[in-house]
Amino acid sequence: MVDSSLAQSLKERILVLDFGSQYTQLIARRIRETGVFSEVRSHDIPFVEIARFKPTGIVLSGGPATVTEKFTAKVEVDVLEMGIPVLGICYGMQTMVDQLGGRVENSNVHEYGATQISTVNESLLLSDLVQADVKGESLKLDVWMSHGDRVIQLPDGFETIAQSAASPYAAIANHERNLFGLQFHPEVTHTPQGQQIIQRFIHDVCQCSPLWVTDSIIQDLVNSIREKVGSDKVVLGLSGGVDSSVCAALVQQAIGDNLTCIFVDNGLLRLNEAETVYSEVIQQLGVKAVCVDASDRFYRALAGVDDPETKRKIIGRIFIEIFQEEAEKIEAVSWLAQGTIYPDVIESAGAHTGQATVIKSHHNVGGLPETLHLKLLEPLRDLFKDEVRKIGVQLGLPHHLVYRHPFPGPGLGVRVVGEVRKEFVELLRRSDAIFIEELIKNDLYYKASQAFAVFLPVKSVGVVGDNRAYEHVINLRAVQTLDFMTANWMRIPFEILQLVSSRIVNEVPGISRVTYDISNKPPATIEWE
Ligand code: XMP
Repeated sequence: MVDSSLAQSLKERILVLDFGSQYTQLIARRIRETGVFSEVRSHDIPFVEIARFKPTGIVLSGGPATVTEKFTAKVEVDVLEMGIPVLGICYGMQTMVDQLGGRVENSNVHEYGATQISTVNESLLLSDLVQADVKGESLKLDVWMSHGDRVIQLPDGFETIAQSAASPYAAIANHERNLFGLQFHPEVTHTPQGQQIIQRFIHDVCQCSPLWVTDSIIQDLVNSIREKVGSDKVVLGLSGGVDSSVCAALVQQAIGDNLTCIFVDNGLLRLNEAETVYSEVIQQLGVKAVCVDASDRFYRALAGVDDPETKRKIIGRIFIEIFQEEAEKIEAVSWLAQGTIYPDVIESAGAHTGQATVIKSHHNVGGLPETLHLKLLEPLRDLFKDEVRKIGVQLGLPHHLVYRHPFPGPGLGVRVVGEVRKEFVELLRRSDAIFIEELIKNDLYYKASQAFAVFLPVKSVGVVGDNRAYEHVINLRAVQTLDFMTANWMRIPFEILQLVSSRIVNEVPGISRVTYDISNKPPATIEWE
């Protein structure tokens, strides 16, 4: 945490201590949306580390534990005695109450979902959020609750600032010590005034100024890259995805031609992708780049392989081999830049503590091997995706590239189910391009979080013209999700599905049937492999 040069360069920063809520990352994002840097760490990091971070305020997240058990997740009590503002959300409020001498019980009235609260007493967080009605009575505030336990007795110095039917202490405050608790979740959009409440905590209680804005982030990052790298040479694997493109743009801004990008065409890219990366990233940014067409090498290695994990490993290995060969040709390189972003950092920390299960090996997370003997430069590792995107646009990358759907590292290699053959990839590529083109035309692309076609290696009987056809199947998949951990299949209007289906069977010889995937995640993953 304290290694982050960005965090160090910012005087005001909020620490989010995580108790395992599914919304923890969202809390950090919401805080940053108020223009203030925030970072997530596990609730049980030693107090000395917290003190070294010098937070301006602390947020305790929700979590699945219950303080009514004997051994339960807590922060070190010193955290509550530091004299800096603390906001406890849901479990975070309950553990704060418990540690400070109040009482929490397992309530038989649970509150899950939309609830209304009434504000009572004055507070910096909630006062005047809703106007009084004509009779002068305070209106209720819509909030999102998700709890079984509830506070039944406040610690000394606290008072209630909101109540709901089931929770007499739906929000609490100790004004003297700037300690606040919310039983509801202000970070989710189902609490319509939630962002305003977070903003009040950050701006009014913690008294932070909105300094975390794109221009100053860019300036800080550019300065810190320059400071770190000096006149050394840097190499970067450019995939054409948002993260590596923005990373290239930033490093280029900082050190110019001392950066060389390596772009490997693995033959598994989308239609015209290699050309687009060349014209819209490499040329547009003016970065020095080596472009390698290695399609044949990938296809040779993938021949006869149909197991998804083996395919991923082969694609990852060949990529590393080529990258290594190309990097060795560049003289005196000492740094490897990577577009690792903050959710990757948080998730791999979760994986180390055993909190996350590895479902698929994402070869580009974790990066290139140590055998490269290069120092790692990860300028985006403090940033969320939406922040990376804003930086990309500001640095001159085209909007459509920066806001395009995510694309997996192994590319179409995991979208041709089973063995990857060049002719299958070709059919997939053309079908995928038709699907995406229609989504864009019909104003649906940005409503989907991810949309793509999948090639199924089964043959089905059809009639094309007057002839019997026995050809392959294309499946379409479009999902909506906030975090890609869970996802819903997208309700694309039937007439658009009809249009895409007709275009594919008419324009892509070799495909005679199109299906649409109506599986949610879980249990189905977003990709088919
Ligand atoms: P799943 O299929 O696990 O996908 O629901 C979740 C998100 O991760 C992407 N994905 C990958 N990204 N390398 C990547 O860089 C991979 O091997 C990989 N597999 C899945 C997927 O596209 C979705 O956005």
